[in-house]
Amino acid sequence: MNNRISRFVLLLSVLTTSLSAQVPLYQNPDAPIEERVEDALNRMTLEEKVALCHAQSKFSSAGVPRLGIPEVWMSDGPHGVRHEFEWNTWNYAGWTNDSITAFPALTALAATWNPDMAALYGKSIGEEARYREKDVLLGPGVNIYRTPLNGRNFEYMGEDPYLAGVMAVPYVKELQKNGVAACVKHFALNNQEQWRGTVDVEVSDRALYEIYLPAFKKAIVEGGAWGVMGAYNKYRGQHCCHNARLLNDILRGEWGFDGCVITDWGGAHDTKEAALNGLDIEMGSYTNGLTSDNSLGYNRYYLADPYLEMLKKGELPMSSVDAKARNILRLIFRTSLDRDKPYGSLCTKEHYDAAKAIGDESIVLLYNNGILPLQGDKYGKILVVGDNATRRLTDGGGSSELKPKDMISPLDALRTLYGDKVEYAQGYACGRPFFGHEEVIPQQVMDSLCAEAVAKARQADVIIYVGGLNKNAFQDCESTDRKSYNLPFGQDELIEALVAVNPNLVIANISGNAYAMPWLKKVSAVLHISYLGTMGGASIADVISGKVNPSGKLPYSFPVKLSDCAAHTYGEGAYPGIDAGREADNSLTDYQRNVGVSPREEYKEDILVGYRWHDTKKIPALFSFGHGLSYTSFEYGKSLLSAKEMDEKGSIKVTVPITNTGTKSGKEVVQLYLGDPKCSVLRPLKELKHFAKVAVAPGETVQVEFVITPDDLKFYDEASRQWVAEPGVFNVYIGASSADIRCKHSFKYLSGL
Ligand code: BGC
Repeated sequence: MNNRISRFVLLLSVLTTSLSAQVPLYQNPDAPIEERVEDALNRMTLEEKVALCHAQSKFSSAGVPRLGIPEVWMSDGPHGVRHEFEWNTWNYAGWTNDSITAFPALTALAATWNPDMAALYGKSIGEEARYREKDVLLGPGVNIYRTPLNGRNFEYMGEDPYLAGVMAVPYVKELQKNGVAACVKHFALNNQEQWRGTVDVEVSDRALYEIYLPAFKKAIVEGGAWGVMGAYNKYRGQHCCHNARLLNDILRGEWGFDGCVITDWGGAHDTKEAALNGLDIEMGSYTNGLTSDNSLGYNRYYLADPYLEMLKKGELPMSSVDAKARNILRLIFRTSLDRDKPYGSLCTKEHYDAAKAIGDESIVLLYNNGILPLQGDKYGKILVVGDNATRRLTDGGGSSELKPKDMISPLDALRTLYGDKVEYAQGYACGRPFFGHEEVIPQQVMDSLCAEAVAKARQADVIIYVGGLNKNAFQDCESTDRKSYNLPFGQDELIEALVAVNPNLVIANISGNAYAMPWLKKVSAVLHISYLGTMGGASIADVISGKVNPSGKLPYSFPVKLSDCAAHTYGEGAYPGIDAGREADNSLTDYQRNVGVSPREEYKEDILVGYRWHDTKKIPALFSFGHGLSYTSFEYGKSLLSAKEMDEKGSIKVTVPITNTGTKSGKEVVQLYLGDPKCSVLRPLKELKHFAKVAVAPGETVQVEFVITPDDLKFYDEASRQWVAEPGVFNVYIGASSADIRCKHSFKYLSGL
C-alpha cells in the first residue's frame, strides 16, 4: 500500500471509530444483539417498558420513540399477509396496495409431505410480509387435528406431531430470513373453536409431550422461531396466554425460548398472571379482551396501566417488566432493526408459481376407478357442479381471511382447459362468503338448484363436482366448530341425485377437514383438496386433466363416521367439554357468551389421536392418514435393515427401493412407522418416525434411505419426566400410508432405561 493510501485508510478508520463512539451501543448494528438489548433497556423509563407490553392498535404495539426504537407491526396470517385494518376498528382500511398472493392453507402444505415446499412457502410469504413492512407474521399454526369438527383445522398441519413439526421448521427458517418473525400458534391445546376462550383442557403429560407439543418444540428449537402466540383456552385451570407450566416451565425453561410470547387477541385475563407467567405482549380484539371497548382504550389492558400501577406499588417485581422488555427488544432488533434484511416483494411470478407448486403437490387423489385423468377429447359435455367452483374461498374463515390480487377459480381454470365443452350448475347455495355468516337458504331455492344440476347431469358425459365446506360460520371457520360430520347444504343428497342419473361423477371437494362420504361407492373418483388460494383453480384443473400427477397424501384420517374418531368416543366430557352452568350448545360463539364460565374437557383418548387410534383400536378409517393415489403406480422393492440390533449409541439404516411401474412420472411419499409391541405403558400400534417424498420417472428405481436412532423409540415417561426407550423388539413398518404397509421388519433394542 502506498503512503498516501495508507494515510487515507488511517484517517477513515479514525473517523469511523469516533463516529461509532458517538453512537449509543444499542444503535450500533455491529454490536451483539444481547448487548444492544441491555443498553436499550438501561436507558428506558418504567413507563416506556410497560408501553412495550401491550397493543397500541389492532395490529401493532409501541416502540420507544424517544430512543428511535420502532413499533412492532404484526399481521395475520399463516396463508398470506392480511389486508390492513383501521387503527382501532375491525374495518378493513381500504388501502389499494395491500393485495397479496393467497398461498394454500397450511393443511394443504402438510398434504404435500414435502419440506422443500414448506421452505418455498416460508420464503415466499416472508418476502410478501417483508414488502408489506410487517415485523411479525402470525403463523404458522401447528395445533394437532383432534376432531374433524374443529373449525380451524385448515390452518394447521394435521394429526401427526412429527409431520407437522417437520413441515413447520423450514417454513419458520425461510420466513425469518426476511427479517420477519414467525409467531407459532396457538400454544397450546387449542384443538377446537367451540368455547375456545373458556374451555379448560385436562390432558395427560404423556399426550401433552408426545402429541400436542412436539410440533411447537420443533418450530421453536430447530426452526428458531422468534415468536409464539398463546392460545385462548385454559390448560389445568389457567389461561394459556399466561400459563405458568406452558410458558415458564416448558417453553422458556425446558426449551430455552428467548423470543417473544404474544397473546392471542384478547387472550389475557389477569394482570398478575400476565406479569409473572412468561407473557410479553398483550394484544386484543377489544380493550377488555374479547368483548367490548372502553373509552380509555389500550391503557386499560392488563399489561398497561393496571400493570404499571402494581409495579409502582411494589406488588409485582420490576424484574418481570425487564424480562418482557428484553424479549420485545430482542424481537425488534431481530426484525425491524435488522439493517441487512432484504426488501421483499409482492405478487411476483415467483410467488404465484410457488402457490401453484404447493397447491399441485397438496391435492390428494383418494379414489379413482380410472376416470382420472380426464381426457377432454373423450367427452363432449363436461358439467361442473358446485358452489366452490366459483366461490371466493379466501373470504371468511376469520383471521386467515385474505385479499388476493388475483384468484383463479376452478371453473375458470376448467374452462381454460376444456373450452366450451364446460357447462356449469351451482347445484346448492350457502349464502354470501364472509366471516361468521350463516344463511338459511329457502328449501325451494335449494330444490330448484338441485333440479337444474340433475337435468344438466343427464345431458353431460361427465360431471366434475366442486363442493365441500367453505369459510362461513360452522364450516372451516374460526370461533365455531362444525355442527355435523356430513357435508353441509344438502350436498350428500345432491351427489346422490347426480350419480343416480350419471355415474361418471368426479368429486373434487374443497375442505380443511374430513367428512362422511355415504355416496363413495357410487362415484367414479374423489379428490380431496384444501383451500389453495390464488392459483387454486389452476392446480385443481391440472390434476383433473393429468397435466399434474397427484402426489398429496392425507395429513389426517377420514373416519367412516364421527363416532369412529377418538375424541368422540368418550362423550361430551372429551368433546366439547362439560359446562356446569349451561347446555353444551354449539350455536353460540365465544363473543356471545359469558367468558367467565369454563367448560371442562378431558382428552380421554390420551395419546391415541388419529391413526394411532384407528390402528390400535382396529377401527379402520375410510381413508387413512398418509393415503393418496397417483396416476402411476409404485412398487416397493425388498427393503433392508443395516442391522438387527441397536444399542443406545447406535443407529439402523433402512433402505427401500421404489420403482415407478406405470407410464407417468410421479412422486411417492414413503412412510416409516415404528411400533413397540411390548412396553410397560400403552403405545400406539405404530407411529410415524420418518418419511421421504421422491420423484420417480417411469421404469426408474430410486433408493430411499432412513436412519432409525434411539430417539425414535422413546415415549415420555411421566414418572421420571424423561424420554425413555425400553429394551426389546421394535417393529418397522414401511408403507404408502398408515394402512398400506408394504414391508415389515423388526429389530432388537438392547439398552434403555
Ligand atoms: C386468532 C389468531 C389471530 C388473531 C389476530 C385471533 O382471533 O385466534 O390466530 O392471529 O385473532 O387476528
